Amino acid sequence: MQSNSNKIFPVFDLGDVILREKRESDAEDFFYHYSNPKVNQFILCEIANDIEQARKDIAYWRSLFYYGSGIYFAIADKNTDVMIGAIGLSGFNSYQKRIEISYDLSPNYWRRGITSKAIKNIVKYAFDHFKVNRIEASVATANTPSKNLLIKSGFTVEGILRQHRFHKGYFYDVYFLSMLLDDYKFMEYKKSNTLINKIHTLAPNNQ
Ligand SMILES: CC(C)(COP(=O)(O)OP(=O)(O)OC[C@H]1O[C@@H](n2cnc3c(N)ncnc32)[C@H](O)[C@@H]1OP(=O)(O)O)[C@@H](O)C(=O)NCCC(=O)NCCS
Repeated sequence: MQSNSNKIFPVFDLGDVILREKRESDAEDFFYHYSNPKVNQFILCEIANDIEQARKDIAYWRSLFYYGSGIYFAIADKNTDVMIGAIGLSGFNSYQKRIEISYDLSPNYWRRGITSKAIKNIVKYAFDHFKVNRIEASVATANTPSKNLLIKSGFTVEGILRQHRFHKGYFYDVYFLSMLLDDYKFMEYKKSNTLINKIHTLAPNNQ
């Protein structure tokens, strides 16, 4: 696959946080973030052991965008610009029209709706820009917060892949979830209908 370095990386302003490109200067925050067991316990892949590896990992995640195989954002605190998490898309299959979503956030920011908001934007981006028909996610069966988050975001649990991921000497079962373009369109349709009903309730004489 050819790299295109002229592409402009998008930025999403979500209020208290922004989604922006990862930078080499994030390496220390990146390393600190993924060293936290509360963050990494369900991330079933290799985690950087030092800052140098963190730098290499950042270069890898950045490259997805320029090679067109995905896009990976830092979630940054808008006041400090410090990286407090990550979210993005990887494994783009243009023939099968599918892509995978994943994310993580620093515990100090949990339960404020930040990842929900980020997922909403990334899902739209996946359907608009990658023109996929299906967004997939896999979640360790013990990771109830992540499974609940995806269900709340409109994903459907398709089943359990037994011992699908091998990590640090153990095999892990994972839930496999997806959102189809049809699901997304239906959600958007329901949202716009709810809005129209609200307007009619507020101003019944306009009906
Ligand atoms: C999973 C994770 C990203 C959730 O992020 P978050 O920003 O706190 O999530 P939100 O505030 O948007 O929560 C949205 C919904 O997710 C579910 N949820 C989030 N945290 C939960 C928890 N601790 N227990 C149960 N459900 C939870 C709830 O349904 C919640 O809706 P509610 O607050 O109205 O009940 C975060 O806990 C995290 O980074 N965990 C470690 C890394 C990780 O597991 N990444 C995913 C790997 S698959």
